[in-house]
Amino acid sequence: MTDSITIALSKGRILEETLPLLAEAGIELVDDVKKSRKLVFPTTDPSVRVLILRATDVPTYVQYGGADLGVTGKDVLMEHGGEGLYEPLDLNISRCRLMTAGKVGEQPPAGRIRVATKFVNIARRYYAAQGRQADIIKLYGAMELAPILNLADEIVDIVDTGNTLKANGLEARELIDDISTRLVVNRASMKMQHGKINPIIEMMAAAVERRRGSSE
Ligand code: ATP
Ligand code: PRP
Repeated sequence: MTDSITIALSKGRILEETLPLLAEAGIELVDDVKKSRKLVFPTTDPSVRVLILRATDVPTYVQYGGADLGVTGKDVLMEHGGEGLYEPLDLNISRCRLMTAGKVGEQPPAGRIRVATKFVNIARRYYAAQGRQADIIKLYGAMELAPILNLADEIVDIVDTGNTLKANGLEARELIDDISTRLVVNRASMKMQHGKINPIIEMMAAAVERRRGSSE
């Protein structure tokens, strides 16, 4: 059994807010992640390395043990299903909402509804739980176009300020869930490497609490 730890981070908007939290847990990247084409980074802790991945791939790497810990959005975890993962900590960053949305002033159809989204599993579960029949159309981006081009009656997407919906003639309808960034841990690693992993979780939790305290 090795004592080294691999942490999978999401590139993009989450990364910038994650790095200071990790630094407070004593883990700092040695290279400038923005300037490098590397995918694996050493850190100031010789027993910890960091992977920079697409947010949607983080749960998969952690589930299969390619990484011991991961940082990604709750939306991504809900879509993945969370199999093989512990979710011990809400990092309280990149907060947003997962919502349904449609054209301004338009009512959703009474019967079968067409829904465009990249969150197909979440959408399937959500409409099924409501007892509504839904045809889910998978898109990889620009979901907001789908109702305008009559591809779908509704979308399921992330909403923060609401500016993207507004700019495209759409309005939010129902809240599916509040979203924030979470720390996840591979279940086997949690058992085998708890001596190394627990202090990281505790130090990151303390950093999150300090931020909560200073924002109140
Ligand atoms: P990819 O480009 O790999 O498909 P993505 O575009 O979803 O992923 P980001 O835009 O970097 O990646 O978003 C990463 C995470 O940040 C999302 O999973 C969500 O949890 C959160 N997020 C997305 N959009 C916003 C937003 N407008 N405001 C706050 N948080 C957001
Ligand atoms: C996200 C999301 C929405 C938008 C919501 O897109 O997919 O389109 O933010 O934010 P708002 O309510 O503040 O407008 P992002 O900017 O990450 O672009 P992408 O999905 O194309 O990566």
